[in-house]
Amino acid sequence: MRISLFPATRFLKALHSHQFPYTAAASPRLFSSAAAAITVMKLLYPNSLKLDISRIEGFPTSLVEYDVKQLIPDEHLDAEALITWTNTAENLKDAAERMKNLRWIQSLAAGPNDVLSAGFDTSKIKVTTGSGLHDHTVAEHALGLLLNSARRFYEMRDYQLQGKWPGHLGGPQPDRPAGSFRTLRDARVLVWGFGNIAKTLVPSLLGLGAKVKGVARHPGVRMGIEIYGEDKLAELLPETDALVMILPGDPSTRHALNAKRIALLPSHAWVVNVGRGTSIDEDALADALEQGKLGGAALDVFEVEPLPESSRLWKTPNLIVSPHAAGGRPQDAEPLIVDNLRRLLAGQELKNLI
Ligand SMILES: NC(=O)c1ccc[n+]([C@@H]2O[C@H](COP(=O)([O-])OP(=O)(O)OC[C@H]3O[C@@H](n4cnc5c(N)ncnc54)[C@H](OP(=O)(O)O)[C@@H]3O)[C@@H](O)[C@H]2O)c1
Repeated sequence: MRISLFPATRFLKALHSHQFPYTAAASPRLFSSAAAAITVMKLLYPNSLKLDISRIEGFPTSLVEYDVKQLIPDEHLDAEALITWTNTAENLKDAAERMKNLRWIQSLAAGPNDVLSAGFDTSKIKVTTGSGLHDHTVAEHALGLLLNSARRFYEMRDYQLQGKWPGHLGGPQPDRPAGSFRTLRDARVLVWGFGNIAKTLVPSLLGLGAKVKGVARHPGVRMGIEIYGEDKLAELLPETDALVMILPGDPSTRHALNAKRIALLPSHAWVVNVGRGTSIDEDALADALEQGKLGGAALDVFEVEPLPESSRLWKTPNLIVSPHAAGGRPQDAEPLIVDNLRRLLAGQELKNLI
């Protein structure tokens, strides 16, 4: 039964005081006969970030905070909706086994690999991502890594720690010398994975004078930028000064940048990765850098995180290690949660559905 009119402020207040019983039928005094059929859905929200819960109120939903580092308490295993953010693997695995009524998980991560690998029955449970909530922070970080690569701040810092003046990086310099990546102006930047984050990053790149092209699953023109399919990489990579990877970490993107494709990049080109570590064959990348066949790499994500102490990447020349620092702080999550909650209750397709 679809109810579009909900009775009275009193009903809503009781509902969202978090004390309201699970089904409306349990408190008939508050309802007209028509409204008595309303089933109140329980939604669990995480304690791992500050959400403005008042912005999620107004639905026939009881909202319950839970601890993402503990197992879901028995009394809340009946919840039908779960919002996740930095949950432990144990919490998710246990929820996948014991939350039998679950029908929607809203991850606040753009790439919810933790949820997808926890064992939830995704044939019955809709999983939606937090894509869009990290656009600004990841775009800013990608821009920072690009500028660090071009302007060599990392090398200046290495010299500073040795008390040495990096004279070769200062003073008069050639303007945009061919065969180098020293500035974003006129640089050929290829953005591989042209989703929400790319759309926020690209205006800054264009503003600094870069020539931007994109690669995605679906070719076409977006924001006035030519987007190609992966079948065109063999032509695009040799004409790239900086490759920015913003791909999700799923089987289709595993080692997307492999030895063969790295070999197509010019020897001065830089690779920046803010998507997922699995999209790069790290050994092939380290080989190319050690052999001087690539300009450098600035990586925010790795196949194994934290990067193990034994990893060769720590010592690879011209490789910048950033500790998965680009995102990590979902912004404006409430409108996405509200939109998807409304869509779920209305039987409509959810946003960011996997
Ligand atoms: N470093 C961090 O802290 C951090 C933070 C947030 C997110 N991330 C990562 O960044 C990823 C992208 O985020 P987003 O919000 O921009 O995602 P998005 O909006 O879903 O965009 C993903 C893009 O990747 C493309 N794509 C997907 N699979 C592909 C494939 N097999 N080959 C080529 N292109 C493919 C899509 O192509 P179409 O557009 O044609 O569909 C789309 O352009 C996330 O999945 C997450 O893993 C990292």
